[in-house]
Amino acid sequence: MTKRVQVFDTTLRDGEQAPGIALNPDQKVRIASQLARLNVDVIEAGFPVSSPGDFEAVQRISREVSGPVVAAMSRTGSEDIVASWDAVKDAESARLHIFLATSQIHMDHKLRMTEEEVLISVKSGVSRAKDFTDDVEYTAEDATRSDPEFLMRVLRTAVDSGATTLNVPDTVGYATPGHYGALIKRVVSEVKGDNAAVTVSAHCHNDLGLAVANSLAAVEAGARQVEVAINGIGERAGNASLEEVVMALLVRSDQFDATTGVDSRELFRTSMLVSRETGYPVQYNKAVVGRNAFAHESGIHQHGVLRNRATYEIMDPVSVGQSPDNIVMGKHSGRAAFKHSLAVLGVDLNPTLFEQAFQQLKAAADKQGVVNEAQMKWIVDDVVSRMELFESVAESYR
Ligand code: KIV
Ligand code: ZN
Repeated sequence: MTKRVQVFDTTLRDGEQAPGIALNPDQKVRIASQLARLNVDVIEAGFPVSSPGDFEAVQRISREVSGPVVAAMSRTGSEDIVASWDAVKDAESARLHIFLATSQIHMDHKLRMTEEEVLISVKSGVSRAKDFTDDVEYTAEDATRSDPEFLMRVLRTAVDSGATTLNVPDTVGYATPGHYGALIKRVVSEVKGDNAAVTVSAHCHNDLGLAVANSLAAVEAGARQVEVAINGIGERAGNASLEEVVMALLVRSDQFDATTGVDSRELFRTSMLVSRETGYPVQYNKAVVGRNAFAHESGIHQHGVLRNRATYEIMDPVSVGQSPDNIVMGKHSGRAAFKHSLAVLGVDLNPTLFEQAFQQLKAAADKQGVVNEAQMKWIVDDVVSRMELFESVAESYR
């Protein structure tokens, strides 16, 4: 049976932790409203105890945005949990997300806690959260560098205390698909077992450029929630990118046999909004949402795409909200594509003028890379007016 994978969007929490991003409550509400249109399952709205602005943003999203579950993150202490609940309690559906690290390096140097103390804190934090809601997620921070035996003990403690989602993050982007898939498989078989109330979640960082691959390996291994961010923003090299994970599951459903609830046609618009509000540009060649993701400049590719898009496109640009007309005129472009671009502009040149315009296009592209629509019109006007001038001079000699 086709699996349903929950999309947990953390653009507004982990994404906002990217250096230099600070979203105010209005901006967060705008992005959250678009995430609801995108139809993600969970919006992680923030970390309420971290600042008054974050508290306000989580509270406003909870009150103003309907559809997805709204999650608020907190540490295991009661004060944090109470603040998170205060911020999120008015949501249509609210989740408390409790985290505590489980790796030796974090326990020794950051938490200064023993294994036993971590177990006690997880138990008390999850139980406290459970006083407010049934929907409690526990994250074992730095899970991929934790002793697996200890990790399983902590996760079992979380389930026994009432956690319904177990998040197994690759906090520092250290895992590889084989390693991460095997760890998720172990959590599924040793902790979740046949407990239908428990969902295992993947949360991957991109330090080795493997966040998306690791998230997909987790789905294959039994994870039924992926924690992702629009445009892959987040700490250091970022989080797994929502648009890439969602489209990989969709385009390669033959491999994964899994669906999400995301309306893929909203992806490009969401990416642009997040880029504008955060000030983080989207790289031109970013998969799915980059401005070049469906652009064809070389003559051979243009020729193929003009005859049948499937020659060089594995997804329909319209299906992710991008424009279908992505023929870019540059130094690698051929005559077929130039003819097509002129036709789009409503221009039909005779063969002589066409050839002159094509040579001018090549010269301009050699100098500047891409030739835009306005420049193409200028080239057309130029060859036409030269021809008219030539003809009027010729006429005066007749
Ligand atoms: O990467 C991570 O471990 C996290 C958790 C705190 C959820 O972002
Ligand atoms: Zn993270």
